[in-house]
Amino acid sequence: MSAPRVVTIDGPGGAGKSTIARALAERLGVPHVDTGAIYRAATLAVLRAGADPADPAGCALVAAEARIDRAGGRTRLDGEDVEDVIRGAQVTGLVSQVSDHPPVRVALLDAQRVGLREHGGVVEGRDAGTAVAPDADLKVWLTASPEVRAARRAAQLGEESPEVRERLAADLARRDASDALRMRPAEDAMVVDTSDRGVHELVEQLWTAAQTGASR
Ligand code: DC
Repeated sequence: MSAPRVVTIDGPGGAGKSTIARALAERLGVPHVDTGAIYRAATLAVLRAGADPADPAGCALVAAEARIDRAGGRTRLDGEDVEDVIRGAQVTGLVSQVSDHPPVRVALLDAQRVGLREHGGVVEGRDAGTAVAPDADLKVWLTASPEVRAARRAAQLGEESPEVRERLAADLARRDASDALRMRPAEDAMVVDTSDRGVHELVEQLWTAAQTGASR
């Protein structure tokens, strides 16, 4: 039997990573690895430890000691289900700062790689193709126009007024700027613009590419 497939999906917020990664994982019969959830759980650990979010070494120490795992689409920190709290405003407001520290990123590599060799996975993140799983069978970089990305975020939040869209577009631009250093496609990534594409069609395209290891 061939080894289970490993696919990485990177790209900016609102490009469609979560939706596509979840659906592709199901189609391939492998786990969906949501690395953003791991960074969010580490950020919660930093908050709970009372560490300074601006201190790279302090945050890395907390991240290295935290037991973070995911099961059944839920995230656990030291055995406690924290899936809901890591999606809240407090963690969301700090995660970009904490995840920006290079030693934090190193400390969380192992947590992102758990089970990949044995079970395969669709790893969704920012540097999944460059740092977490550079040997993946297929590396994908998703993009979409800023307008489409802001509209998707607004729809997710159920708030679609022009003012909200404008604020979300500004938030996305700010996050892009702070994510920019670690946000680059792997050299052999397949770049896909999702602006005018449907989920089903995209998943079929990536599923076919994953069978053949198209980005290798
Ligand atoms: O995908 P998300 O919104 O849950 O990610 C939350 C934050 O974590 C976002 O600011 C980017 C950061 N992140 C990261 O630095 N590296 C990853 N592999 C995933 C997320």
